[in-house]
Amino acid sequence: MKQDHTPSTPWYRQAVIYQIYPWSFKDSNQDGIGDLRGIIEKLDYLNDGTPDSLGVGAIWISPIYPSPMKDFGYDISDYCGIDPRFGNLDIFDELVEKAHARGIKIIMDLVTNHTSDQHPWFVESRSSKDNPKRDWYVWHEPRPDGSAPNNWLSVSGGSIWTLDEKTGQYYLHNFLLEQPDLNWRNEEVQKEMQKVLEFWIGHGVNGFRVDAASHFVEDSLFRDDPINKGYIDGETNPYDKYSHIFSTNQPEIKKIIGLMCDISEKYKDIFIVSETYLGLEEIKRFYRFCDPPVHAPFNFQLMSLPWQAEAFKIYIDRFDKSMMPLDVPTYVLGNHDRDRVASQRGSNESRAAALLLLTLRGTPFVYYGEELGMKNVDIPKKLLRDGFVKTSEGMFSRDPERTPMQWDSTENAGFSKVAPWLPVANDYKTVNVEYQKKDSASMLILYKTLIRLRNTNKGLLEGSYRSLNTESQDIFAYTRNSDNQNFLVMINFSNNKITEPLPTGDFECMCTTHLDVPTGQKLNGTITLRPNEGYLLKYS
Ligand code: NOJ
Repeated sequence: MKQDHTPSTPWYRQAVIYQIYPWSFKDSNQDGIGDLRGIIEKLDYLNDGTPDSLGVGAIWISPIYPSPMKDFGYDISDYCGIDPRFGNLDIFDELVEKAHARGIKIIMDLVTNHTSDQHPWFVESRSSKDNPKRDWYVWHEPRPDGSAPNNWLSVSGGSIWTLDEKTGQYYLHNFLLEQPDLNWRNEEVQKEMQKVLEFWIGHGVNGFRVDAASHFVEDSLFRDDPINKGYIDGETNPYDKYSHIFSTNQPEIKKIIGLMCDISEKYKDIFIVSETYLGLEEIKRFYRFCDPPVHAPFNFQLMSLPWQAEAFKIYIDRFDKSMMPLDVPTYVLGNHDRDRVASQRGSNESRAAALLLLTLRGTPFVYYGEELGMKNVDIPKKLLRDGFVKTSEGMFSRDPERTPMQWDSTENAGFSKVAPWLPVANDYKTVNVEYQKKDSASMLILYKTLIRLRNTNKGLLEGSYRSLNTESQDIFAYTRNSDNQNFLVMINFSNNKITEPLPTGDFECMCTTHLDVPTGQKLNGTITLRPNEGYLLKYS
């Protein structure tokens, strides 16, 4: 689908970016695991240039590098290869070529905070204290009583430190003990990682999603994190027992992201988006890491705000206002680490959330299956696969949001002919691509419609954002205006029907979340919104 934009606008301010969790997208060789050929098979679904396809402009593929898969690819043992479960470099090149032919850019997941403990660098590093690669990782002497150097915690549970019996020192791992952290203060590590970016740019990729950016460096004095006063034993995630002021978000992150941006600018048009679960003030700081801004942090706030019009208005106003002209605002409803939006918010709410995501001023990220309203799947304990289940003592698993994509109503939802690595959702007979294609009011049609409208209307792609005051406190309303296109979005965040005055002027309906109001229908004076219903209107 051709986008209506000025050539000077970089692609990453235009494209809808679709996240593929490769384990679960499409299995082409019937081993129960998704793979690169499976993604190739489904490129037309993503964008075949016609309004029948989803119309995404880029795919971000979660890690596909060789890996022992302790953290399903987020533990890399070779940065410049493809895990045989997914294919090989030739198939990857074919994927890039075929995606580009359809106008789809490729974003690689760059997991550079840590490697796998099986990576040859770590194998060398742990072999002796005087190995040349010792300093490539973060090693520390025990305390005098032999215990871990300080109180820092690992995100996946337990201490951040593990003792290496052989050399008598502890190594640091922000995640599983099989994921030792690289020492980003070491210049050889910095150079090596820049080469990794260049390797993949050489293979045609257009951007990188940088994993765990908040964790790149820790306090050089290794000071204990202070107790988090808001922590409630048994309720709060044990990781949050301390405020991570010394173990995360250190000022040197700016330099590290800067090194990636240097590569991006050298090759032009490469986008870097970094993973950080931060509040607005810190996100603003991340936005200033590169100039010109070829880098943006993820803005995850839409996932955690209470479902209230006022909360969304206040946050989005503040976020939008904080953007400098060339910044790339980002919005996300879900990913492979968080509950699916349809489970977290509910069905109608997630339709309203889709309207928001695709009409706000910013680059939207869509997690595979979100466009079908796929929900978290209740997985029996014995079938859970996430490595964090064990280390968090059963506190959490991310498997429920990682289940196979639901393509059709055949066995295993058309994902694979054999039993998949995680169970398929029970609702797959009706929540699937083929079924929803034929249902004119389905979530899939809503996503397709909104993405098409976004791709083809300058007002939605590039227009300014301004929220409006409303009579009802349950309605969030905003305009998106460009030179000659003016749009109005109105969303009812409540479970009640609300009649709200419209701004002065005549409007025509472009799309509603229930998809049952004819396009082009004229409106003026007032509008009545059903519970959690949203409208996209155009000033006529
Ligand atoms: C964030 C990734 O999104 C998550 O899936 C992974 O477990 C950790 N980083 C460690 O790489």
